[in-house]
Amino acid sequence: MLSASLVRPASLSALLLLIMIWTLPVQAGKKQPLHHLSATSCGECHQEIYAQWKSSMHAKSTALEDPIHAAFYGMMVGNPKKEGEKHKISGKFPVCLNCHAPNAARDGTTKLDASTAYSEGVTCVTCHTMESYKGIHGKDGKMQLGAKAYTFSSHRLQGPNGAFKGANPTESPGSSSSEPTVNPFPHAANPRLFKSSDACLGCHDQRKNPNGVPLCSTGPELVASGNSITCQSCHMPISGGFADHTMGGGHTPAMLKRGIVFDLTAKAAEAGVETRIRMKNNLPHNYPTGAPFRNVFIVLTAMDAKGEVLWKNFTNSPFTEDKKGILMLKLADDAGKPAPPPKATKIAGDSRLKPGEERSIAYMIPVNGVAKIRAELRYALLTPPLVKKFAAKLPDEAKGTTLVAQSEVVLP
Ligand code: HEC
Ligand code: HEC
Ligand code: HEC
Ligand code: HEC
Ligand code: HEC
Repeated sequence: MLSASLVRPASLSALLLLIMIWTLPVQAGKKQPLHHLSATSCGECHQEIYAQWKSSMHAKSTALEDPIHAAFYGMMVGNPKKEGEKHKISGKFPVCLNCHAPNAARDGTTKLDASTAYSEGVTCVTCHTMESYKGIHGKDGKMQLGAKAYTFSSHRLQGPNGAFKGANPTESPGSSSSEPTVNPFPHAANPRLFKSSDACLGCHDQRKNPNGVPLCSTGPELVASGNSITCQSCHMPISGGFADHTMGGGHTPAMLKRGIVFDLTAKAAEAGVETRIRMKNNLPHNYPTGAPFRNVFIVLTAMDAKGEVLWKNFTNSPFTEDKKGILMLKLADDAGKPAPPPKATKIAGDSRLKPGEERSIAYMIPVNGVAKIRAELRYALLTPPLVKKFAAKLPDEAKGTTLVAQSEVVLP
């Protein structure tokens, strides 16, 4: 029985909430299934985790929030506020929603503004109702992606430790308040799922386009590396005493900077300067990993003593002028011409750094009077043709590049 003496006065409202929600599992399915709960109802107690999640791409994963996803979704599916939309190529329920709006996919709906739990994308209850991982390969040989790769619990939140002390007030993990609160939801201990990469791989393992061309392959990249480290080790570090939910990637400059070792050496030669760029990927997946339009390129500039530019590795675009300085997956059509993800029929090349790979690239700078050389590594979310295609739909952040590493040499 719940005893009020167990709860400090400040927690009385929490106790009321507890009593109100106590019967929730019984009602599940009838009134408010767990996967219809908004993140704000969790954020009342887990304030810091809520703020971290809110800043993450998981909270912006639908076409209502992410302009890059919205541009592709509009082209390949249609209106995220309309019911009954189909994936144009297959004529089926949009596969995208299984990963980008999993709570809507679980209900078979494409009207993402019908519920906060849909428009919140990959939200608290998406992950914390996942009960077991089935894998992404169905028995019929077809892919079962995102929400389809998991079984879900309808009546118990799932967590790494199953901490549920009932009416005993404790601090909620990821809360900025030291006020004790009562955990209102029944939890199940599910360390096997939550402390393994399986908690991520349903959506992050791999995805192919309708022609069978692999678009994202973070899972297989990790398997090929032979590394058994979990995704959480890097993407959910412990900070402030609990697992961080920011989950940064391509949209987070600080994360991109951590992924790569990059340096430059140079020595004067007879007809100019011999330079060498060394890169190393210390990650257990590719650099860059993820979506096929991610790309990274070198900008190398030689200057005289006054800082005037004497030479650059490209004038307009590295894509035409310095192909060896680009790290990316190249998708092509049958004729071998560059093709966007939905239309590609083959992989024309893959110059991304593999897990653990070290690469050294030499440049001969054929000018005299060089006093300083500067090398930059820049990351772009999209390739130039895609930036051009969607220009009107994208904010500047999506069109620009991020400086992820730099190195300078001053010649004697
Ligand atoms: C009224 C406060 C409150 C609310 C609201 C709340 N929680 Fe909690 N939660 C707690 C407390 C307190 C704990 C610590 C466990 C304990 O001592 O019972 C906890 C623990 C957890 C854990 C960790 C379990 C583990 O295995 O370690 C998870 C995951 C979690 N909550 C998720 C959620 C989600 C998702 C929601 C929203 C649907 C939510 N919580 C809403 C108070 C709350
Ligand atoms: C239900 C599906 C789903 C699950 C489970 C999931 N993710 Fe994601 N994740 C996504 C989607 C969808 C995006 C892309 C959002 C966007 O950019 O529109 C994403 C984006 C990311 C990003 C990249 C952010 C960026 O800056 O581009 C990282 C990193 C990430 N997830 C890590 C994880 C980790 C680690 C786990 C496991 C603890 C995990 N995810 C579990 C669906 C999921
Ligand atoms: C993409 C999946 C995903 C989403 C979205 C997500 N979580 Fe988690 N959460 C996890 C995983 C995985 C862990 C376990 C991390 C570990 O122990 O390594 C976790 C751990 C937790 C914990 C325990 C933290 C600790 O270290 O004690 C709490 C509490 C929690 N989550 C609450 C939330 C809340 C609240 C939200 C929404 C604001 C949320 N989570 C969104 C995957 C997710
Ligand atoms: C050793 C640390 C480490 C581990 C382990 C790790 N990652 Fe990463 N991850 C990074 C860093 C650093 C980046 C940024 C550089 C990049 O994009 O490759 C990144 C980037 C990403 C991105 C962003 C891709 C994009 O398009 O924006 C995703 C998604 C991702 N990781 C998922 C995963 C998943 C899933 C796992 C587990 C299978 C995992 N990572 C394991 C460090 C790690
Ligand atoms: C298997 C799960 C899954 C499916 C299915 C899926 N995606 Fe994604 N998508 C992701 C993940 C995870 C990321 C982010 C991390 C990465 O780059 O791998 C992402 C990233 C993206 C991005 C980049 C977003 C950004 O902010 O940079 C676009 C665009 C995108 N997806 C479009 C689509 C479209 C359109 C569909 C349906 C035709 C689709 N996706 C289907 C998992 C999926």
